[in-house]
Amino acid sequence: MIEPSRFVSAAAKGLFVAALLTLSVTFGRSADARDVPYVPTPPEAVKKMLEMADVQPDDLLYDLGSGDGRIVIAAVRDFGVKRAIGIDIDPQRIRESWQNAENAGVADQVDFRQGNIFEEDFSDADVITMYLLSRVNRELRPRLLNELRPGTRLVSHQFTMGDWEPDAEATAANRSLYLWVVPAKVAGEWRAEGGADEIRLSLRQDYQMVSGDMSAFGQSTPIQSGRLEGENLVLSATTVREGTPVEVRLEGLVTEEDKIKGQLLLGDSATDVVLARARQD
Ligand SMILES: C[S@@+](CC[C@H](N)C(=O)[O-])C[C@H]1O[C@@H](n2cnc3c(N)ncnc32)[C@H](O)[C@@H]1O
Repeated sequence: MIEPSRFVSAAAKGLFVAALLTLSVTFGRSADARDVPYVPTPPEAVKKMLEMADVQPDDLLYDLGSGDGRIVIAAVRDFGVKRAIGIDIDPQRIRESWQNAENAGVADQVDFRQGNIFEEDFSDADVITMYLLSRVNRELRPRLLNELRPGTRLVSHQFTMGDWEPDAEATAANRSLYLWVVPAKVAGEWRAEGGADEIRLSLRQDYQMVSGDMSAFGQSTPIQSGRLEGENLVLSATTVREGTPVEVRLEGLVTEEDKIKGQLLLGDSATDVVLARARQD
């Protein structure tokens, strides 16, 4: 289901529906595959989206369904991003984008690719911006979770990602904006390296939320709160030491070599740990 009611004004809503009907009658999904009509993001919301993504000069940003190129251009011109890429299915939008980039003096740092976001590769992104629809976001979701590097930031104007809860929300120009950070994959069994069995994790994962059990210091306890922000994992549980409940906390980084490297914190003591996978779920 499309969700035109989320676009702000009734006039915009009418235009949106008319555009969609025209597209489906004129082209049909198979001939054009256009999933969303062109409606530009207001400049104030563009700025906020880029702030939420915390864009950095070395980031590679993609805008999926890039319209007239305004997010791509603002990322380079106003936020100092060295390279940004727009993908749009509509050749007219691509022509406008190049013209706008020329006018802004950033044409040598941007690329505009005419293509379908469901077919184009954007797996090298550090930041992805989107103004699509919830249905389209949900269809893209498996690729976002599986193809992007953990830590990649996603910002969506107005539309959510189904049951994947955002990591942050904001409002600008009366628009709702959402941020997600692609989580590392941690579901399964983990064990401290070196054959020592004293630290074990049995983890379940629901996007960035982590649950399961932590075995440490000879006790196995349910994880009370567990969360990933990209590759950063924080787990906490309560263990009993000399009859007193104490918080035990694991703060770690999920590495590219599929290890969790970090520290186990108990009271004032901190122990370095490196956990390796014993089983992947
Ligand atoms: C709501 S506009 C957003 C434009 C721009 N990102 C912005 O925020 O100002 C959505 C854009 O997605 C493009 N689009 C729709 N379906 C697409 C698809 N399957 N692949 C690539 N672009 C698509 C449309 O042509 C349109 O320009």
